[in-house]
Amino acid sequence: MKLLSLTVLILAATAGSAQTPAYLDETRPIDERVDDALSRMTTAEKVAIIHAQSKFSSPGVQRLGIPGIWCTDGPHGIRPDVLWDEWDQAGATNDSCVAFPALTCLAATWNPEMSALYGKSIGEEARYRNKNVLLGPGVNIYRTPLNGRNFEYMGEDPYLTSRMVVPYIKGVQDNGVAACVKHYALNNQEVDRATVNVLVDDRTLHEIYLPGFKAAIKEGGAWSIMPGYNKYAGDHACENSRLLLDILKGDWAFDGVAISDWGAVHNTEKVAANGLDMEFGSWTNGLNFGASNAYDRYYLANPYLDLIMEGKADTAMLNDKARRVLRLIMRTEMNRNRPYGSLNSPAHYEAARRIAGEGIVLLKNDGDLLPVKPDVKKILVVGENAIKMMTVGGGSSSLKVQREVLPFDGIRANASSKGIEVLYERGYLGDVTGEYNGVTTGQDLKDSRSGEQLIADAVKAAKAADMVIFIGGLNKSGNQDCEGTDRLHYGLPYDQDKVIEALVAANPRTVVVGITGNAYAMPWLDKVPAVVQGWFIGSEAGNALADVLFGDVNPSGKLPFTFAASLTDYAPHAAGDKEMYPGVDGDVTYKEGLDIGYRHTDRLGKGHVNFAFGHGLSYTTFSLGKPALSSTKIDGDGSVTVTVPVTNTGSRTGAEVVQIYVRDIKSSLYRPYKELKAFEKVEVKPGETVDVSLTLDKNAFAFYDPATARWTVEPGKFEILVGTASDAIAAYLPLTVATPAAWHD
Ligand code: BGC
Repeated sequence: MKLLSLTVLILAATAGSAQTPAYLDETRPIDERVDDALSRMTTAEKVAIIHAQSKFSSPGVQRLGIPGIWCTDGPHGIRPDVLWDEWDQAGATNDSCVAFPALTCLAATWNPEMSALYGKSIGEEARYRNKNVLLGPGVNIYRTPLNGRNFEYMGEDPYLTSRMVVPYIKGVQDNGVAACVKHYALNNQEVDRATVNVLVDDRTLHEIYLPGFKAAIKEGGAWSIMPGYNKYAGDHACENSRLLLDILKGDWAFDGVAISDWGAVHNTEKVAANGLDMEFGSWTNGLNFGASNAYDRYYLANPYLDLIMEGKADTAMLNDKARRVLRLIMRTEMNRNRPYGSLNSPAHYEAARRIAGEGIVLLKNDGDLLPVKPDVKKILVVGENAIKMMTVGGGSSSLKVQREVLPFDGIRANASSKGIEVLYERGYLGDVTGEYNGVTTGQDLKDSRSGEQLIADAVKAAKAADMVIFIGGLNKSGNQDCEGTDRLHYGLPYDQDKVIEALVAANPRTVVVGITGNAYAMPWLDKVPAVVQGWFIGSEAGNALADVLFGDVNPSGKLPFTFAASLTDYAPHAAGDKEMYPGVDGDVTYKEGLDIGYRHTDRLGKGHVNFAFGHGLSYTTFSLGKPALSSTKIDGDGSVTVTVPVTNTGSRTGAEVVQIYVRDIKSSLYRPYKELKAFEKVEVKPGETVDVSLTLDKNAFAFYDPATARWTVEPGKFEILVGTASDAIAAYLPLTVATPAAWHD
């Protein structure tokens, strides 16, 4: 009897494996598994998987053994865990992470290899923490320097953003973790972000604001995307059929999941019909109020189920949403072959430091003040940002780090290895708070001295030092570089300009290091010999900054956005027109069209720009040799290769970024003054010359024709601009395009 039942069991087990349901059989194609899973699910189960069950998770289908999804912010590190249904910290002791440099810094590397390293590293951290969706990267275009969230994005140029976003996504997704590119689309200001309606012409939409998203989807293959809070053409992004159905799922054939920003859904009928797949973060009434544990009341929960049951909503749409969510689950949590990931590893710290080192930008270096010279024996560091943790705060990108090396500590450690003494003075009192979402820095930054006294003390110490390094800028508090609010001014807060003026008067060997995610006014620029853009660079901030200041790393970062002289030099602010920013009666109108960033400022000339897009110095010097075109005449759908010899004319190894801009000499439609269409960073040894070859295809010459909704290349004369910044063009090469081309994508 016993023997018999054992045989029966063995038979049953064998038969069981032969009958593994298709959705669990990983040898089958994902879409076959998805269809099989879907065919076994009830309508209620389908509705259940398309909305949240907690602040950051959604349910799977327990009956079928299909797991749910866990999301995490993004985009600079893996956010600490919060309670199931509250924003309060869960109090876990294993959720500290490495903070990678902010995406502005990544973009400033102008090096897609750094993006790949970033994506791989942060993806490994997400995977180790068992997160399936990383809420990032952000690719909203830098329209105004007042936008509080610019630090989470990749600057003002659609081409640079597109090239940098793709490797990040691939690196993340190689870990079996979905990237969720955000905030789709036109979420370019935080003021009124939940309600503001963006009015922008079609051409500007396609040429400036969509390319980063398009590259993320079509080239990066992103498995998810986050429609943002704002409206476009009258409809919220999450309920916007043009953005979601026509462009994302139609033109770009997106097969992933459109995940709402947290609380960005407003209407069941609209969200059901218009292409959003998953709802997160609402209570019952958008962002601001509602009940706890209201998940059943989400727009895509019971209200949607009721509509379906009453026959008022399309079940094909529901199936499409559920199918996409199942595909996401199979690509991530149900992929048993994905790697295991790693957290806080030495490799991740090294990656953070490398990326930061490549992204820090040496803006000005008169008199060769940097790197710190051997005759310097005593350095005075001044400024709050030298001692303030920057990984806590700023909104949803706030982190709980395992460690963060502060600028002052990094500088002191590096200096002491060289026998240099480092002293500190505060200089000004900024924001002494250090808490976000229950994570506290534990720093006591209070100081009872008056503003005058702080300056007087700093000046006294500056006079006695061989060199002064001022480390200031913005921080992660409201109205600075912070989600939910915009900056109120272009200038530095807390009277820092006064401190800088006083310091440089006391000691002309003064360096200003800006820790910001945004450009800012520099009224003292003529007097200060050296300026460094230090960004928010995360866990390795102090080490990476010291690497550059002391010359252990030769800077090679280039600005991903223009540092204009004043706010009115930015096109959206030029006329002081409130309709252009922050908007009037709920609408913000992008009247400047294509002319944002350098497309506008390069026409204005020098006095209007402190540091141009693409600018960044090195401790060595480079010269570009005579560039050559593979042909001076091409067809509209042809291509041309530009070869540029880059010579290192200085005495140490360094990297230069060759930048190719295209100018259409005559066009039936207005064209920007110049547009970045190719770039490459190249390392060159002293005395060496390296040839850089870059190919321009039809995409480099096309404009989006709103009349035909097609990308269009017009025959005629073009100019290829070869340079090392948008305002440092070394050669202008004529090119003729002989035949037209047009296509839709
Ligand atoms: C932000 C998103 C973020 C989400 C979840 C929202 O407020 O806009 O970027 O991913 O919260 O924290």
